[in-house]
Amino acid sequence: MNLFFVLIAVGLLSFSGVLYQNSDWKVPAEEAKKKNPYPADKENLAIGKQLYAKHCQSCHGKEGLGDGSKAEELDTFAGDFTAEEFQKQSDGTLYYKLTVGRDEMPEFTKKIPLEEDRWLIVHYMRTFK
Ligand code: HEC
Repeated sequence: MNLFFVLIAVGLLSFSGVLYQNSDWKVPAEEAKKKNPYPADKENLAIGKQLYAKHCQSCHGKEGLGDGSKAEELDTFAGDFTAEEFQKQSDGTLYYKLTVGRDEMPEFTKKIPLEEDRWLIVHYMRTFK
């Protein structure tokens, strides 16, 4: 009987562990601290916008609302880039997430190999409000 309860407890613990991971995307502190090395000037925002339209819009939508043309095929909501919760995240955090990806969010080190390009997309994501 005791063993039965231990097994239930272990099961519940590991289940809540899974839930926790899914609701919270952990980014290493070192990465979150990184500063965007490039200025958010007109030219760079225009490049960020182009890259976003090409690589991100199909899922994240033109206005960053998570309502792109592919959104319906996804099991995971891609997020609302206009939300305060989203914008509160550091540049380094967004850069890390878009670089390494997770589950349905692709990683972009191959499709967007230049670090600079990925940082310019971070600047562009700041224009969603
Ligand atoms: C195939 C669809 C798809 C494409 C293409 C895509 N994403 Fe995502 N993205 C997602 C999904 C789904 C999530 C949610 C992932 C999760 O929470 O596990 C996500 C999450 C994110 C997040 C984290 C959101 C948050 O709330 O913290 C960022 C940042 C992000 N994407 C940026 C980008 C950028 C920038 C691009 C283009 C370079 C891009 N994504 C391309 C599907 C996509």
